[in-house]
Amino acid sequence: MHVNSSPGRARNLRISGLAVAILVASGAVALTVSPPFTAIGEAATAETLRAAAAQADLFFGVAASPARLSSIVGREFGQLTAENDMKPATIAGPGGTVQNTGNADTLVNYAQTNNMTVRGHTMVWYSQAGSLSGASQSTLNTYIQNVLLKWGNKISHWDVVNEALDDNNTGQRRNQWPHTLDRDANGDGDYFDPSDTDYIRDSFRQARQVVEQSGLTTKLCINDYDIEGLTVKGGARNKKSDAMYDIVKMYSQEPYKYIDCVGLQSHFNDNPNSIITDDLQANIQRFADLGVEVQLTELDIDDDLSNNDIGQGQADNYRKVVRACLNVAKCTGITVWGISDSESWRASERGLLFTGSNGSYQKKAAYSAVLDELNKGRQTTPGSSGPPSNSSSPPSSPSTSSSSPSTSSSSPSDPTAGCSAGVTLNSWNGGFVATVRVTAGAEPIDGWSVSLTLPAGATVTSAWNANQSATSGTVHFTNVSYNGRVDAGQSTEFGFQGTGTGTGMTPTCTAA
Ligand code: G3I
Repeated sequence: MHVNSSPGRARNLRISGLAVAILVASGAVALTVSPPFTAIGEAATAETLRAAAAQADLFFGVAASPARLSSIVGREFGQLTAENDMKPATIAGPGGTVQNTGNADTLVNYAQTNNMTVRGHTMVWYSQAGSLSGASQSTLNTYIQNVLLKWGNKISHWDVVNEALDDNNTGQRRNQWPHTLDRDANGDGDYFDPSDTDYIRDSFRQARQVVEQSGLTTKLCINDYDIEGLTVKGGARNKKSDAMYDIVKMYSQEPYKYIDCVGLQSHFNDNPNSIITDDLQANIQRFADLGVEVQLTELDIDDDLSNNDIGQGQADNYRKVVRACLNVAKCTGITVWGISDSESWRASERGLLFTGSNGSYQKKAAYSAVLDELNKGRQTTPGSSGPPSNSSSPPSSPSTSSSSPSTSSSSPSDPTAGCSAGVTLNSWNGGFVATVRVTAGAEPIDGWSVSLTLPAGATVTSAWNANQSATSGTVHFTNVSYNGRVDAGQSTEFGFQGTGTGTGMTPTCTAA
């Protein structure tokens, strides 16, 4: 029997065991009872997105308005985002007050009744800012406090800052309010210095203070689009994603610890910066490695009928995106941006999981693909408690690269010693992604170090699932907290992206 190690299934096991223990303790059953101890480990195939996701320990949610709250919402989705009804344009009053919350209250109440979590969307945003538009940090702070306290823990995640970064892969912030609040005091090109003024830092600081002082558990998120991949179409670096990474890295770590989560909106279409790249999972992983939760917050995928820029069909693309999230333990949820194509903000691109309207909906092929993928659960290597080590879709070069990627691999070194390592390479013109598989020998290992020498001119630009000692020459990669333990004969994987060519690398593995 295959034993799946997903946390959701482990929880089923615990609940089943507890239920039997209670029954036994109460004398209600004889000790010869067999179920539910049989066949535990194979969870039943779930028939709704909500149930399948819960079994894999993540949420599957939807954005909606009160007019869309038909029975399908509570049945298929475990999480709800207000598509428009919590935006400042709707609920911000003068001086940072909160008003006109009728629709938002309806959504929150519906979620409570149907045991769904809610994402608050959104507090500080250049668009749909209503009476907040052009406000001072002080007014923003008042609003942040009011809106957090309005719903308290009924909101599990709040988008504190939305869409701070510029379009067209510039890696810069949007050049308009609230960026007008920013001041680069020492002129070094960033807003991260203590003497700088940074509306992102200051908004999150205020939100963090309110959460702490009020004993809330609400998670504080930053949210944006076109930050999903490490690269964009053609293989160039995704500078917008890198800029978001720098912000999250700065403000999720000591001394700040303000940011809990990052939302990758995931409006995938044929814009060169909005395509699905094969390094999506690697990018989710690098954010997760900062210790924050990652969610795909506004997922929709162009159905690809009008062009073929993003791949082999919508259902396959949905499958790919869901798998990338499932393969990263800290990817804790996926929200689709609407129920049905015709009711979507992108109706012409038919990017959602259902057709139909007004509560009468039909499932599309994309729905079945998502349900099937969720039912496969997270794919983690037995013995590893952290993110997946044995991914079914390891990061590779951008699928849409203009030059065709090449794949090569080397064999693991000495398989009988403490550990061995082999590298698989996906290369394109000017860059590569290396996936390194670490395999334990006849004994389990509790830590590992892999050394390899990069070819001249090659540079490591990012790594995931490992610590890295250098960016060029001989580089030592060591395990991170969750993947040092590898059982006898089992494997774990880490990866890195580089510029230049990666051919000819021969990794050697040493067990700690
Ligand atoms: O409700 C009025 C209606 O009474 C009026 O007749 C009609 C006329 O245009 O407008 C309706 O309001 C529209 C509203 O959606 C509700 O449908 C607004 O004009 C329209 O601007 C608004 O668009 C929303 C958009 O954000 C605004 O920026 C979309 O529904 C919403 O899906 C979209 O969501 C954003 C996320 O917040 C952030 N990420 C991107 C995402 C997609 O753009």
